[in-house]
Amino acid sequence: MNKVKFMSGENVPLEMHKVRMVQKVNLRPVEDRLKAIEEAGFNTFLLQNRDVFMDMLTDSGVNAMSQDQYAAMMRADDSYAGSETYYRLEAVLQDIFGMKYFLPAHQGRACENIIAQTLVKPGQVTIMNYHFTTTKAHITLNGGKVEEILTDEGFKIKSDKPFKGDIDLDKLRESIKRNGKDKIAFVRIEAGTNLIGGQPVSMENMRQVSKICCAEGIKLVYDASLLGDNLYFIKIRDEAYKNVDIIEITREIASLMDIVYFSARKLGSARGGGILCSDEALFLKMRELVPLYEGFLTYGGMSVREMEALAVGLQETMDFDVINQTPIIVEALCNELLKNGVPVVTPPGGLGCHVDAMEFCSHIPQELYPAGALAASIFIASGVRCMERGTMSEQRNEDGSEPLAEMELARIAVPRRVFTLSQVKYTADRINWLYQNRELIGGLKFVEEPKVLRFFFGRLEPIGDWPSVLAAKFRADFGDSL
Ligand code: F0G
Repeated sequence: MNKVKFMSGENVPLEMHKVRMVQKVNLRPVEDRLKAIEEAGFNTFLLQNRDVFMDMLTDSGVNAMSQDQYAAMMRADDSYAGSETYYRLEAVLQDIFGMKYFLPAHQGRACENIIAQTLVKPGQVTIMNYHFTTTKAHITLNGGKVEEILTDEGFKIKSDKPFKGDIDLDKLRESIKRNGKDKIAFVRIEAGTNLIGGQPVSMENMRQVSKICCAEGIKLVYDASLLGDNLYFIKIRDEAYKNVDIIEITREIASLMDIVYFSARKLGSARGGGILCSDEALFLKMRELVPLYEGFLTYGGMSVREMEALAVGLQETMDFDVINQTPIIVEALCNELLKNGVPVVTPPGGLGCHVDAMEFCSHIPQELYPAGALAASIFIASGVRCMERGTMSEQRNEDGSEPLAEMELARIAVPRRVFTLSQVKYTADRINWLYQNRELIGGLKFVEEPKVLRFFFGRLEPIGDWPSVLAAKFRADFGDSL
């Protein structure tokens, strides 16, 4: 909740910053939007930004930076080895997380590569609240398997549980017993659980998981990419942390973990990544891989300018007025949609608003990618680019069969401090229109399907001519409006 109350009682994302640099964006007519998505093979990843009005594909690497972040970039110390910039960033990380060692990497998945290569042996299992696409890919590449032990509540689209990203402790104990602790590479907790709607994990849950892992001698790894959102939710949804400083909450979380890693494209609003730990032997093992895959230890594939911006961005993440922006906008967008009956994941999480495509497009079978079709339709209706998070984002089984995703979501990400409330209202307006015309949306099928992470480059085509029918209906309903 914002510190400023409105007389109306509405939770308005009142900006605690002002805009001093802007970028023009294009809103093309619906016919052009249709053509653009056709050319992109109905995959929003393949759209060109010149055709996109609001880029809500992701919050990764597209957050607005502060003047202090830009200013810090000017003092970057360009040096292959021993850069002052590295030591400044290391000191900030040590202070915020209270962990001894820091390894730089070029982004989050690079950290996952290093951690998986270090900890995963063929045939081992990695247990987690829920997977992220790149995390799972690195674990399977190293011969490991992923087991998800989210609480059942986490899979429910509609819920009033404040921490849907929690691990089910009984499932954790059962899995350790069944697999045997030697077969477990590590347990992973993902902050702000991405693929189930940006849902947070509670401090109590992390404490209990840590206790179990410590007792069994199993390493606990924390993906802190979405830590900013998770910190916000701990502060506002857990009475015990209402008056605790953000930095204290961060240190408490880190104290429970063996390894903390993050994508700095999300956490710290810069571009890069990093791994933290306190155990020297573990640090030394992971360190060997950094020069091999990333770069020398004092930059790890990051530009020193980004590292300076990251050091400042991380400190700013400890400010409640900074981290509350995205969750409050997400809530505002979800509420605008819920008012019109559009099914969205509740309670609203961080990262973005997640529309339930399984219900929105209940007439489209999962094999025809309802969430992908919804994402393409949202672009046709609005010029807003969002992302499929469902079956398309899964990998085929070895026998070529399709593992159907637990959830079919169209994720409308809210990059930090980028879009205004009027733009959010526009987005909701167009999605509400689409919901009234949902019967017009049809399915998609792959025409080009890469083997690994197919959702990035895969091309699809519609079953029938529904995209043209949808665009024509838009034109009929909106007249000459863009
Ligand atoms: N972990 C989580 C929870 C993530 O959300 C991401 C990226 C990564 C790891 C990988 O980090 O992109 O820096 O290599 N998520 C982006 C997204 C891509 O759009 O949700 P990366």
